[in-house]
Amino acid sequence: MKMKLFMGCVLAGLVSSALAQSNVKQLKMNKALTDEAKSCLECHAEKTPQLVHDWKDSRHSHLGVSCIDCHSRQADDPTAAQNCPGVKGTDIFVSPLVSPKTCARCHSQEVQEFEASGHLRARVQIDSKDGMQKLIYHHEGQDNPEFSGSPDETGCMQCHGSKIELDENKRPTSETWPNSGMGTIYPDGSIGNCVACHTRHRFSIAEARKPAACASCHLGPDHPDIEIYTNSKHGHIFEAEGDEWNYDSPVDAWEPGDYRAPTCATCHMSGVGELHTTHNVSERLYWNAWGKSSKPRNSKDPMNPLTGDAEKGRALMKQVCANCHTPLHTDSFFAQADKHVNLYNDSYYAPAAKMLAELKEKGLLDPNPWNDEFQKIFYHLWHHEGRRMRQGALMGGPDYAHWHGSFECMQDLYKLQKIYKERMEGAGE
Ligand code: HEC
Ligand code: HEC
Ligand code: HEC
Ligand code: HEC
Ligand code: HEC
Ligand code: HEC
Ligand code: HEC
Ligand code: HEC
Repeated sequence: MKMKLFMGCVLAGLVSSALAQSNVKQLKMNKALTDEAKSCLECHAEKTPQLVHDWKDSRHSHLGVSCIDCHSRQADDPTAAQNCPGVKGTDIFVSPLVSPKTCARCHSQEVQEFEASGHLRARVQIDSKDGMQKLIYHHEGQDNPEFSGSPDETGCMQCHGSKIELDENKRPTSETWPNSGMGTIYPDGSIGNCVACHTRHRFSIAEARKPAACASCHLGPDHPDIEIYTNSKHGHIFEAEGDEWNYDSPVDAWEPGDYRAPTCATCHMSGVGELHTTHNVSERLYWNAWGKSSKPRNSKDPMNPLTGDAEKGRALMKQVCANCHTPLHTDSFFAQADKHVNLYNDSYYAPAAKMLAELKEKGLLDPNPWNDEFQKIFYHLWHHEGRRMRQGALMGGPDYAHWHGSFECMQDLYKLQKIYKERMEGAGE
């Protein structure tokens, strides 16, 4: 308790200077709502009561930012419409779509940081890869003339976002909306989705700081980050007492004391100690830990898989740990984790990729990669087991580093070696 009060005093100074620089504070907020703004609230309180209730509980409502500020559109905007009965025949146009461009009017820094992060490419990279399109429509969708889009609509799009198309009434089509995927491409050209972590219409930082805000996407066999977290000592402490922590401190003033162990946001985004909050989740990373093999990050382009700066990223991440651990503890932890990433690169990915290349050269691979034993196992080796091995080690989840990681990679490698040998000797499948 004492520590928390002390931190509070020290941080009060930091916070007020950070807020003084924030562009939000320079905007004049009109707390008194106009008659038009009130009309939206009154009618929607009847028609969609919980939506208005959520908004009433938000910072936005306390500061007079209301429906009309986010949903009204200039008449010449591609999404401007009067499908809402409350605005029909007036000079107000509205859209249910609210892109980051609207948020940027008041939160330009958060939007710029988001646009520099790997989250930006979540949809673009699916649309730009032939292999992904073939997987979705040809293989999973079985080229069904009517239904082949459903794997995207119910799956990929819900996490990665969509390219929103409009119908003749300027409403989003059911093939592309609703979804709260990360990299949605809006008709106004902006990319991203702020409701991915701060759900509407609360838009709460407390919510975004909890692991649940990431867990709806970062789970499952190919990126089990929430499972790894639960398996880690930090997750152990969060599960035991996280419901008693304070998640409401202002940005850059949410410090150890408010919590005893870090959440996903603490390590990847929050202002902790000297560090400032960032919406660029790639900034504190060293490796690319999702690719076929792991390389240090070295690109300024958010569309590049190696976006980030490895050395700087590691130094920033270590600054997070330094609030609670000594350099001895942190350096030794990363020595263990990096060794496991290197083991994956050297002893699993490299030999598997070599066999794949040789089989390809000799014409011993089935043209359908999803129906060929060697290629299926190869895919699992890097995309499932290999990611779990690397991410498990880097975030302190031993069950994923080992049983779901290196152990299964080893089994995959032995199977690959057997199939390789058989095919090279002219036998086997
Ligand atoms: C801070 C900005 C903001 C404010 C204020 C706001 N909204 Fe929204 N609203 C959004 C965002 C973001 C979405 C999700 C849009 C998307 O998917 O592109 C949304 C979605 C919606 C939708 C469509 C989704 C659904 O569940 O049906 C409606 C209708 C809506 N808002 C009405 C309102 C009303 C009424 C108010 C006032 C009580 C309001 N909004 C206040 C940002 C805002
Ligand atoms: C008289 C009641 C009423 C008023 C006033 C009203 N709305 Fe609506 N609004 C509705 C209803 C009902 C719907 C659902 C319409 C439907 O899809 O059938 C709706 C739908 C919407 C949608 C989704 C549009 C779409 O294409 O589906 C948005 C966004 C919206 N309203 C925002 C607003 C804003 C902003 C205001 C204030 C300028 C406002 N509404 C005023 C009743 C109202
Ligand atoms: C018209 C200006 C305006 C628009 C548009 C706007 N906001 Fe805000 N927002 C504010 C203000 C003002 C605050 C309060 C800032 C503060 O507390 O210093 C705020 C606070 C927030 C917070 C912090 C809430 C908390 O729990 O402390 C979040 C998150 C947020 N906005 C998200 C969004 C998103 C996402 C959008 C777009 C969908 C958006 N805002 C659009 C003005 C706006
Ligand atoms: C709506 C789904 C969704 C949510 C919620 C989400 N993410 Fe992501 N995240 C993604 C997707 C999709 C990617 C992959 C983007 C790509 O590389 O195309 C990703 C990638 C990442 C990356 C790697 C970026 C890179 O440069 O390789 C990190 C780190 C990350 N997310 C952290 C977080 C954290 C922390 C949270 C919660 C505070 C979170 N994410 C919430 C969908 C989500
Ligand atoms: C449950 C949410 C979810 C679903 C569903 C999902 N993904 Fe992902 N995807 C993610 C996350 C989270 C990452 C980031 C992994 C990481 O950083 O370790 C990711 C990473 C990727 C990547 C690697 C990133 C890059 O920049 O190349 C590709 C490609 C990808 N997903 C394609 C797809 C396709 C195609 C589908 C549907 C067939 C799909 N995903 C379904 C959440 C999802
Ligand atoms: C990956 C999850 C995630 C996404 C996506 C996200 N946010 Fe945030 N946001 C957070 C977290 C976590 C915090 C609190 C950071 C902290 O603890 O220091 C936050 C804080 C904020 C704040 C409060 C800043 C302040 O100075 O008070 C605003 C405003 C905000 N976000 C706006 C946005 C906007 C606009 C977008 C869309 C571009 C967005 N967020 C997308 C996770 C996210
Ligand atoms: C104790 C701090 C910490 C916590 C808590 C934490 N992470 Fe991480 N995360 C890391 C570190 C360290 C790395 C590896 C960074 C590097 O490359 O050196 C990492 C890597 C990742 C990656 C891999 C990015 C890639 O290149 O594939 C994703 C995705 C991710 N974290 C998401 C999450 C999510 C989601 C949560 C919560 C469920 C979470 N993290 C909790 C520290 C943390
Ligand atoms: C808010 C404080 C806090 C932060 C920040 C934090 N940790 Fe921890 N960490 C803890 C606590 C508390 C434990 C549990 C110690 C125990 O088991 O008694 C712990 C445990 C661990 C453990 C398990 C081994 C052990 O000593 O118990 C590792 C490994 C670890 N942390 C690494 C990291 C790394 C790496 C970072 C930065 C990326 C980090 N931590 C950030 C508080 C923190």
